[in-house]
Amino acid sequence: MTGNTKHIHRSGWRCPSNIALVKYWGKRDFQKPMNPSLSFVLRNAFTETSVELHKDGDKKVAYYFEGVESPFGERIENYLNHVSSQFTWINKYNFRIHSHNSFPHSAGIASSASSFGAMALCLTELDFMHSGRETDSFEFWQKASELARMGSGSACRSVYPGFSIWGETQLFESSSDYHAIPLLDGVHPVFSGLRDAILMVDSGTKEVSSSVGHRLMDDHHYQRSRIAQAHQNINELYLALLTGDLEKFIAVVENEALSLHAMMMTSNPSFLLLKPNSLELINRIRRFREKSQIPVCFTIDAGPNIHLLYFQENEPEVKAFIESELLAFCENGKWIDDRIGTRPERLNN
Ligand code: DP6
Repeated sequence: MTGNTKHIHRSGWRCPSNIALVKYWGKRDFQKPMNPSLSFVLRNAFTETSVELHKDGDKKVAYYFEGVESPFGERIENYLNHVSSQFTWINKYNFRIHSHNSFPHSAGIASSASSFGAMALCLTELDFMHSGRETDSFEFWQKASELARMGSGSACRSVYPGFSIWGETQLFESSSDYHAIPLLDGVHPVFSGLRDAILMVDSGTKEVSSSVGHRLMDDHHYQRSRIAQAHQNINELYLALLTGDLEKFIAVVENEALSLHAMMMTSNPSFLLLKPNSLELINRIRRFREKSQIPVCFTIDAGPNIHLLYFQENEPEVKAFIESELLAFCENGKWIDDRIGTRPERLNN
């Protein structure tokens, strides 16, 4: 990283977390997905990361999380080793990294998406600035998405506003296993009011990590049908997003959430992340929808917490429902009030 271009040795970004509606579950080769996925970014759940470069180094990492030096630095060192084949200047620096999440560690929100999203944005900005390239370009976001994917698959969907798709699908010629693409045009306006109430069932550490779960798809009995199902679901969901077909949206989103957990329950060895209260919440959400005819549904990550999805215009009724009927099944009555978000932001300091 030499030359006469403008010198910048520090970069900082705020990057949102995201929640998948069509789930990435299973990998091929290095960090490529077995099937395409579709997600939206959250507004209130984000990571802020700053990366400082120190010259004449050899990729040593001092990583501070919430102000305290953290062992996550080792994962970042591994990550830098991977990306240094693309960004060779990385080999000549040591890294001082500060990172902070807007949500508590125990919130059960996957922090790897927003962490690697923010980290990748910093590295991409440092690279583009040094080579004198435009950082507000299509190439910039795409490169950041690709680099984020190398840290954590779901992270590649965090660099775009609103909805995005990762993985090859017949829907878009530009779709790719290497980076996500944004769904910028044509999404029905009802989805700009999409809300996500994250109902905290259990904030403890997961018994089985996502990386183990992905690996169990390698020789899963249902692998082929799962891949076919994800392709079909992404086609149907995309159509529902364009037309504002909420009935279809609800059907696909719940089918995906339960299919993800069905894959876990039927892998070898099998595992179970849902808790009795997760099931109680699911049943109550479905009953509320039937009785009130209000369009609500749930999605679930690789954990026991339930994401209750609803729309802005139904906020008063849904919040009353959460308080009166759902909080009793949340750990210490805890839930997080979130909604669809916008793109990452550059930090000034
Ligand atoms: C269930 O992105 O955490 O949340 O690539 O190994 O870091 P790695 O996996 P990760 O897996 C996320 C799985 C999921 C579904 C999704 O976000 O699509």
